[in-house]
Parts: sequence; C-alpha cells; structure tokens
Amino acid sequence: MYSKNEERELLRKTEQMVAEARDQKAPDERDDLDKLRDILRYHEWKYYVKNEPVIPDPDYDSLFQLLKSWEEKKPDWITADSPTQRVGSDLSADFPTVQHLVPMLSLGNASSEEDLQQFSDQIKRLLKDETQQDFDFVSEPKYDGSSLALLYENDLLVRAATRGNGIEGDDITNNVRTLKTVPLRVPFSKYGVQRAELRAEALIPLDDFQKLNEEREKQGLTTFANPRNAAAGGLRMKDPAEASRRGIEVIVYQLGFLTDPQNNDLLKDFELHSDTLELLDKLGFKSSFEDHRVHSGLEDLAAHMKEWEAKRSDYPYEIDGMVVKVNQLEIQRKTGSTSHHPRWAIAYKFKAKQATSKLLKVDYQVGKIGTITPVAKIQAVPLAGVTISSVSLHNEEFIRSKDIRIGDRVLVERAGDVIPYIVKPLTEFRNGEQEIINFPEYCPVNDTEEQVNLVKLEDEAAWRCPRCVCGKQDLQKMIFFVSKDAMDMAGLGKSLIERFYRLDMVKRIPDLYRLDYEKVSRLEGFGEKSAANLKKAVEESKNRPLRRLLYSLGIHHLGKRASAIIAAEVDEVWDLKNWEEEDYLQLKDIGPVLAKNMVGYFSDDHNLNLLRELEELDINLKSTAQDKPTERKDGPLSGKSILFTGSLGKFSRKEAQKMAEEAGARNISAVSSKLDILVAGEKAGSKLKKAKELGTVEIMTEDEFVELVERT
Ligand code: IVH
Repeated sequence: MYSKNEERELLRKTEQMVAEARDQKAPDERDDLDKLRDILRYHEWKYYVKNEPVIPDPDYDSLFQLLKSWEEKKPDWITADSPTQRVGSDLSADFPTVQHLVPMLSLGNASSEEDLQQFSDQIKRLLKDETQQDFDFVSEPKYDGSSLALLYENDLLVRAATRGNGIEGDDITNNVRTLKTVPLRVPFSKYGVQRAELRAEALIPLDDFQKLNEEREKQGLTTFANPRNAAAGGLRMKDPAEASRRGIEVIVYQLGFLTDPQNNDLLKDFELHSDTLELLDKLGFKSSFEDHRVHSGLEDLAAHMKEWEAKRSDYPYEIDGMVVKVNQLEIQRKTGSTSHHPRWAIAYKFKAKQATSKLLKVDYQVGKIGTITPVAKIQAVPLAGVTISSVSLHNEEFIRSKDIRIGDRVLVERAGDVIPYIVKPLTEFRNGEQEIINFPEYCPVNDTEEQVNLVKLEDEAAWRCPRCVCGKQDLQKMIFFVSKDAMDMAGLGKSLIERFYRLDMVKRIPDLYRLDYEKVSRLEGFGEKSAANLKKAVEESKNRPLRRLLYSLGIHHLGKRASAIIAAEVDEVWDLKNWEEEDYLQLKDIGPVLAKNMVGYFSDDHNLNLLRELEELDINLKSTAQDKPTERKDGPLSGKSILFTGSLGKFSRKEAQKMAEEAGARNISAVSSKLDILVAGEKAGSKLKKAKELGTVEIMTEDEFVELVERT
C-alpha cells in the first residue's frame, strides 16, 4: 500500500503537523487540506487495517480536529472522500458485511473542565427553543477495546458485528458466540421485546492480557502491543477456538435499538439512559451499569473525571477516558447527531499513557554489584502527568531484540505507576541517520585512566564491571547499605550520600561510621541539631541484627529472606568463612546460584577486610535474639545444636529436623566447634569424619536420637 519511503515521509510530515497543530490558522491553499487528508488516511490505514498504530491516539485526534476546523473555515474545499466525511472503517474481506440497525458513531473529545462546560453549554443552546428542560449527565468508563454491535431476536443472539465504517460492519457472530460474557439467550420477551441491538466493547482484562503475552512469548510468538489489538485481532480470527482462547470479555454500554413484535420503538418507554443500563444488568449482561454514575452538576462531573483518572491504573481493564452522556433520552433525541458523533455524548480523554519522542543518546549507570544498565536519554515529553526525559533500556538484549537505535523516534509508555519503558522504535521514521547502539566493551562509568573490561556471566542478561577502580560501585553500595530494609539509617538517603560523596566525606561503607559531624553541621541545610540527629541514626544502626547486616552487604542474589535464614544458622558472620556450597544448599530455599555467590563473597579478602573494618567500628556482626527463631527452652535438646548426615532409615531428613526442633534443638548445617550433636545415618561421609576429628561433637545413631527426643 505504501512504500517505506512514503511511510517515512508521511511520518515526518505528521510529526511536523502535530507539533504545529495548535498554532495553525486557516489554510492558504486547497493543497494544504489534501496533504493533511493524506496523512490522516495513512494513520487510519495503520490503525484499522494493519492494527499497528504508529502515533498515539491524541496526536491523531488533534490532526483530525485541525482538518475539521480548516474545513469549517473553507467549506468549499471539503471533498467527499475526506476523513471527516465518514467514520473510520475496519471492514475486511474475510467476513460477510452486515448493516447496523442504527449507525455506530464516534464520539467528540473533551480533555478539560472547560471542554465539559462547552459541551454542556452547546446542549443548552440546542434546546433553547424548547421549554427549558433540566438534564443530568451519566458518566461511564470509556473502555479501550474493540466495539461491537450485538443483535438479539426472539431472545436469541442472532448476530454480532464489528463497527466497520459505522454503517456496515463485519459479521463475526461465530467468534463472538465463543465468548462467555455474551449470553446466547436473554429473556428480552419478558419485557415485550422482540428485537434489540446493543453496543458493546470487546476487551481483555489487563491481568489476562499479561498472561496471554507471557504465554505467547514462551511459544515464540510475537506479543501484542496492547489489549485492544489483541482483542480486535482475536475477534477476526478465522478459527473461533482461537478467539475463545484470548480471554476476551464483552461489556455492553448502550441500548441502541429496541422494538416489540409490531415493530414499535420500545426505547421511547424509557426516560433515562441509566434505566436502560439497569435493564441490561438485570438481563444478565456485563455492562457499564456497574461503574456508571449520575451527576446533577458539572462540578460533580469534573471531580469524578479527576478521581477516575487518578485511579485508572487500578481498574482491571484498559480505559482511555470516561464517556459522558446526557441521561434524559428525550434530550438525546432532540439534540441528535452529526455524521460523526452524537451531540449528547462526549469522550473525556485521560492524559495519554503513550507518547513518541526522539532517542538522543544512551547513558550508562552502574549498580551496587557492578551491573551496567543502559539508559536512553530522550527528548522530554509529557506522559500521563509527568515529564519523561530518560528511560531504562534494561540490558543489551533488550536493545538488540527491539533494534533500538540512537536517533530513533521511539514509542514510550507509562502504564499506571509503572516506570516508563520503550515499547518500540518507529522504524518508519528512519532516515539513515540512526546509529546502532554498540554496548561498551569497557566500563562506561569509569572516569579513571585505567580501562576495565566488562564481563557477562552465563545465564545473566547484564554486563558487569568486575573490578571497580573509580569508586562508583562503592557509592551505590553505600546507598543500598543505609536503605530502609538494610541498615535503615533514618535521614540518610540517596541524595545525601551522593552529596557527601561529592564532598569526599564518604567514599566507602565504613566511612559512613566515620562522618565528621562538625563538618556536617556546617553544610547548607544542616545545623547542630540535624547533624546530631544524623549521628544518632548512624550510631543506632550499629546494633542491627545480623540478618540486616548480611542483606546490607549487597551480595548478588542475597535477598531479605535468605539473609534471615543464613543469619539464624550462625553465631557470627565469621562462621561463614568456613561454609561451603553444600552447607548453604542444606538450608531451605537456598539455591546453587546464591550458594556459589556466598562462598565467593566470603573467600574474597577485599570483602573480609571490609567486615573487619566494620567490626573495629563496633558494628554488630553477631547473631542476635532477633536472628534466632524462637526455641523451646525446656525440651530434652534445648540449647543444643544438631546436624543430620547420611541417610536416615525411619524418617526423612526434614521430619527428623522438625522433631529436633520440637525437642528444643537448633538445626545447623555445618560441622564446626559450634556443633553439639551429629546424628549419623547410613553412609555418613565427610561430615562424620570431620566431627570425629573435632572430638567435641556428640555423635549418635538415628535410634539414639529417637530415644533422646522421646524422653520427656
Ligand atoms: S457510547 C452513540 N460508551 O468509544 C454512542 N462508547 O469513540 C457512542 N466506547 O468505538 C458511544 N466505552 O466503542 C460509548 N461507555 C462507552 C464506551 C464507548 C468505549 C467506545 C465505542 C466507540 C468509541 C467512540
């Protein structure tokens, strides 16, 4: 349909037009309108036919509005094929075409309180010749899926169609019949209804959408950019079983047509839109009834819009705004529709969650264990209420798989509170100036003369700097060390550490305990009192339980839980110097990767020196009462440590450990002078040998152990 070159050119023009859309005056020439129409047609094709929009909806909307305003100023220049003269079409050749009973129109847009005011004023103006009538508004979520028309006759679903061009749609009844939220039989006849056409949205709940994409990724299939595309595509599958598998749900939001067997309009019997929603609910449809609200004033309406925008990310479905409708059906009929949208309804659009921007350059950040994270610096764009100028690129593989290049126009998304990410580069924009991102070979944050090669461990996505010579890893280590779940130094956070670091007041973790508070009190923003408070927080942190200290060290893969499990097993940190991988592996929930890292950490002099320094600074390295699970004080094995080795005959090792615990003993996993009892089963090996050599360990058989614990 379009060549690559044409697409590139159209996108370049789009960008320019979007940027200038707000300041555009009336067009000078007929040609300007033609060019804008070409741009809009191209995006309609991308959106409806290819299901691959390349610009965010608000950009399209603003260009559409621009064309409309131009055409209003120059009505002679309107052409029959202008995008404004029809509603968008998603018709495809694969399904039979059917006529909707009532045209499926679009909606006008609002994005501020003023827009809502204008909308309301306009309705009042339209009604001015009538006896002044009061009206209310109803608001409902604007579901961001794919629209459908459902036709019921004599209580049965007889047809389901896509919106198509608004007049005609694709007949996708067989696919829709597989969707469990669409009742195939509905007791309309109880209400005297013979024929009903309903407007609905097909959607995939966000949770299911995520699972769907994960599943597809596992199967090596391409993932969907959003639930809307997945639902729209699903409804158009040739195989209804595939449509059914995508977890599509259907939510009804409007009763469009309702007649009795004599073809009399029954909608006239309803006074309010909210009453029709109640009926839909009663009839068993999933509908906007659940989340609709009636507003008697604009103030209440505007506040409600803000409330929903704020909680948008908690909603289980993707919504891109709210639809505001006049509640009184009579007023709806009186105000009528343009060829594009009803005058009695408007879409209040939330701020876009997607935006496009240009990738200017890639910066790199180093983490506490040397992980190098590439970060894209992009031209600042507003996105869902904040301005974004940098976005993580995660790792080399992320850049490769998405083929992201410097100079690319990229689609950025920020869903809810989630940190922004790059959805994809818009390759149509490439003009030959884009540069491939070559991941650095040497540590990119290191500003010293010495070059350090980056390394990548097997099974890991990240490159790491294995030997920091510039101190930046120590900075990250300090930031982590003081954090809330680690040593928890109140008042000492990332920015303050960075400030102390820049001032050469702290360079490594032990320096945190050597702060010159005299100097601190003289810093801007500090005084004697705040310096004293800081000192208090730092001093207090010296007595944290061992599990917190272990966690604070930032050992790769060592989380809070594993830190607690390990701390419960030792008397002091130095015990870990003698631990081997298999000692760790005996502990519940500790896997081989962590075991290896732990042994690696405690056999590195650099780390042991750090611990020695901390010990000299009076930081607690011993396990405390908080590190030990509560032990029974009066059991036959109270106060004893115990270890099982070899294969046991009567019990599994877990059962035996549990029995020992119940008898007051503490299970430990290594043979050392701290071990009191070793229970040796069959084929006991090196542990038994070591215990014998030590001479201080009581060695017993399984039977002897049982006899001991059964003693009361
Ligand atoms: S009412 C004549 N209500 O928004 C009635 N539409 O731009 C016009 N949509 O494709 C639509 N949620 O599929 C209405 N609660 C809602 C809606 C809703 C989503 C979609 C609809 C249409 C688009 C209108």
